[in-house]
Amino acid sequence: AELGWPELRRIPHPPRRLPLLGDVLGVNRATPLQDSLRFARQLGPIYRRKAFNREFVFTWGADLVADLADESRFAKHVGLGVANLRPIAGDGLFTAYNHEPNWQLAHDVLAPGFSREAMAAYHPMMLDVAARLTDRWDREQAAGRSVDVPGDMTKLTLETIARTGFGHDFGSFERDRPHPFVTAMVGTLTYAQRLNSVPFPALLRRAAQRNAADIAYLNRMVDELVRARREASGDGDLLDRMLETAHPETGERLSPENVRRQVITFLVAGHETTSGALSFALHYLSRHPEVAARARAEVDRVWGDAERPGYDQVAKLRYVRRVLDESLRLWPTAPAFAREALGDTVLAGRYPMRRGAWTLVLTPMLQRDPEVWGADAERFDPDRFDPKAVRSRPAHVFKPFGTGARACIGRQFALHEATLVLGLLLRRYALRADPDYRLTVTERLTLMPDGLRLHLERRTAAA
Ligand code: HEM
Repeated sequence: AELGWPELRRIPHPPRRLPLLGDVLGVNRATPLQDSLRFARQLGPIYRRKAFNREFVFTWGADLVADLADESRFAKHVGLGVANLRPIAGDGLFTAYNHEPNWQLAHDVLAPGFSREAMAAYHPMMLDVAARLTDRWDREQAAGRSVDVPGDMTKLTLETIARTGFGHDFGSFERDRPHPFVTAMVGTLTYAQRLNSVPFPALLRRAAQRNAADIAYLNRMVDELVRARREASGDGDLLDRMLETAHPETGERLSPENVRRQVITFLVAGHETTSGALSFALHYLSRHPEVAARARAEVDRVWGDAERPGYDQVAKLRYVRRVLDESLRLWPTAPAFAREALGDTVLAGRYPMRRGAWTLVLTPMLQRDPEVWGADAERFDPDRFDPKAVRSRPAHVFKPFGTGARACIGRQFALHEATLVLGLLLRRYALRADPDYRLTVTERLTLMPDGLRLHLERRTAAA
């Protein structure tokens, strides 16, 4: 009963395994996810890979993932990349074990921070941050320079979560280099990913020291932010909820240590993936002028020339939303989630699993399964998210925000922000791709298009 999978031998693995090292032939330490996609294409909907002395089961076939979504038999597993973030995010919402009491407590206290009312209050702040981006892009455009898409999207999404969640301003748009918070965060995410690529952590001693310094910096920064808030009141944002809201039934509050974990969790989870999603969408828009034209026509029609589109006008951008969904289908920027068996069970009637056995779901492969998405699954086509097409597909085949009780709490926040910003950018600029650019994807647990720059043309002076 290896790994809790009694019939593990029925699960395929790469043909040439090295003693001690395992399936490391041809793999690149910097791109573990894209390596896993390559193996998936060779080995099929469920397979295993061995790295040094550890073996992992990967799953992506649509029927298997649909079964894993059954919350009565499976739950989130905190493993691999997520487990490696425990030193920084502890029992914060994203990294908490299911059995840790602080998960339910924080979930119940923070969920109202993502209600419709809360989102409507964030909307004007999101518009203010977006205006800082377009000011910057106007200047770059006027100077005839191209723009650094992932860099600027990161500035935008960091400022948005900082402003709406914590009443904080990192001044990202006024800096030439990323804010030290971003540098420290990228450092810890990259370190958490690298930990999976070595047989034991001691091999990363220098990197571990740097990581400890990054964590210390993040803690200091967050403690300062919290201290300032305790002295001056906020406007009912996430931080106020964390500090002041008692659980509606038990009256319990988050401890200061847990607040620190949650602040770091939300600052990181609340911007890194959204910035990747916006960057991929802008890449595809620049490569598919007919899609961009249709999306832009929708923005013009729905928003007219209202300088500040209202909260309700964002969800009306149905086609822009499909562009975003289709980008998240091909490149879900949090590209995997893990599920474990709550008791002994048989996955999809075929693979026995013992209680606690787990598997990593490869979302990008699930979302390109030709059996579900067709022979052209690799092609970018937002019409796949037309309501009729969506109804014709089975459940659980599009999971960029994970599944079940531990799915993304910030989903509506991310979708609102990204749709709003795409609408504003499409209305203001024509996007011109560099004809020599080939999409390459960098990984630091999350995905991001590497080195993407676009040329802008102003559409109208007024808009
Ligand atoms: C959880 C994706 C934006 C906060 C998750 C999970 C996924 C995900 C896949 C589940 C992980 C797992 O099962 O291990 C994304 C994507 C986003 C995005 C693709 C943007 C396009 C956001 C935003 C916030 C946020 C904007 C906060 C403002 C969280 C938190 C969790 C989570 C706190 C943990 C929830 C829990 O376990 O209770 N996200 N997310 N995310 N996300 Fe997001």
